[in-house]
Amino acid sequence: MTSPHQQWNNPLRSPADKRLPQIAGPSGMVIFGVTGDLARKKLLPAVYDLANRGLLPGGFTLVGYGRRDWSKADFEAYVRKAIDEGARTEFHENVWQRLAEGLEFVQGNFDDDAAFDRLAATCKRSDDERGTAGNWAYYLSVPPEFFAEVVHQLDRSGMAHEGENQWRRVIIEKPFGHDLESAKELNEVVGAVFDERSVFRIDHYLGKETVQNILALRFSNQMFEPVWNSHYIDHVQITMAEDIGLGGRASYYDGIGAARDVIQNHLIQLLALVAMEEPTSFSPGQLRAEKLKVLRATSAVGPFGKTTARGQYTAGWQGSKKVVGLREEEGFDPNSTTETFAACTLQIDSRRWAGVPFYLRTGKRLGRRVTEIALVFKRPPYQPFSQGQTDLLTNNAVVIRVQPDEGVLMRFGSKVPGPGMELRDVNMDFSYSEAFTEQSPEAYERLILDALLDESSLFPTNSEVERSWEILDPVLNYWADQGRPDDYAAGTWGPASAERMLSKDGRAWRRP
Ligand code: BG6
Repeated sequence: MTSPHQQWNNPLRSPADKRLPQIAGPSGMVIFGVTGDLARKKLLPAVYDLANRGLLPGGFTLVGYGRRDWSKADFEAYVRKAIDEGARTEFHENVWQRLAEGLEFVQGNFDDDAAFDRLAATCKRSDDERGTAGNWAYYLSVPPEFFAEVVHQLDRSGMAHEGENQWRRVIIEKPFGHDLESAKELNEVVGAVFDERSVFRIDHYLGKETVQNILALRFSNQMFEPVWNSHYIDHVQITMAEDIGLGGRASYYDGIGAARDVIQNHLIQLLALVAMEEPTSFSPGQLRAEKLKVLRATSAVGPFGKTTARGQYTAGWQGSKKVVGLREEEGFDPNSTTETFAACTLQIDSRRWAGVPFYLRTGKRLGRRVTEIALVFKRPPYQPFSQGQTDLLTNNAVVIRVQPDEGVLMRFGSKVPGPGMELRDVNMDFSYSEAFTEQSPEAYERLILDALLDESSLFPTNSEVERSWEILDPVLNYWADQGRPDDYAAGTWGPASAERMLSKDGRAWRRP
């Protein structure tokens, strides 16, 4: 039998399920790295939005931990500003007041025993006075080099240890390692203190409505599944393009690059959802088992000189604005070899997908911001039309638009009105904003709530993370010996090598 929470988590739930309780039980959250970009732009606004929707428990306590010499009032002002700038829902003074009552700030470094003891005492006081009941989520919004120290401190100060009827969970941001070996080391460090069931690794793409809708589209409908295989699909393109540059993000990005930042996590997770078999249920165990199975059958196709592409943006135009290249961006090494565009070809050794290439690409400073998955169909085996009539007809496609303009598009041929028989591509478009009145919650909102509810379906397991590195490592190792990535001008769609990568197979990237 499924619990109410499992049913809520089920992406195929019926509308009636919305009436089931979804409020997190008594609990609090500590954010490490609370003064960082992620906390300010995403986590704090998401906590407010949850409070505003009435999904946080009465005495919810949010403790910020950081180096700044802040009073409670300073922290409150900081949180308030982050909410003003980033919250999706309307501001309500009474919601804010209730949230503010539960705000605490503890000052300290990650190697400061005394500060961690103060943190433990703050949480204990909240348990006694605010009813957080010893249930704590520790959000590690910090670079991976600090994971070991923080986890060690949580252990040393007793904060990692669950008393009777209590829970302690750790929420970890990516990047989870920079290759398989480092990911394994991190998993060991975390696993030495927290059980796997208490570890929630964030891949915020899984918190997006449109990503969860991949499961709904595939498994609640009859019309897609019969053609969702190598008999009908020619190839799959997964694109995550951004128009922003990397100014101000050098400390995180230089040396990491596009493949580690986006392909290893977000794009491989999208591939898993598109390609996996139907799970027997949407319980976390079943869903992850199917994802892992398809990832185990997935590998990078070589020779990498032809099947992958790597680029770095140079100066160019982003719309009407002139922008600098990566090597002129503030904080970047002028000789940086970090790629800002990455593309690779993956294959899945299974009956369903044999022979269907999955082309993955991501980049900064591309033509526009768009994330989409395109399943491009084979041409019909026979066309009873003359060549001239079908000149403008291309392959049928199903395109899942993850963002922006969230929706699903189907491309097929149609007769152009008129006396002749001329055929052309047309689009049939489902748009979330037209079909639904509800606004999709921000991904972090969903994921923080799920972590508090112990709903782990939308969090990749340790095995998925390690397997994703195993898939990507051969490509990364190949690139490591190739010197500088190819150039591409800002505002374009990547280096010429990316075009060649598909044209050699007689295919082309979609221009989303
Ligand atoms: C993050 C990457 O995981 O995703 C960033 O580290 C990227 O480089 C971001 O900008 C994009 O997220 P979204 O939700 O805007 O597509």
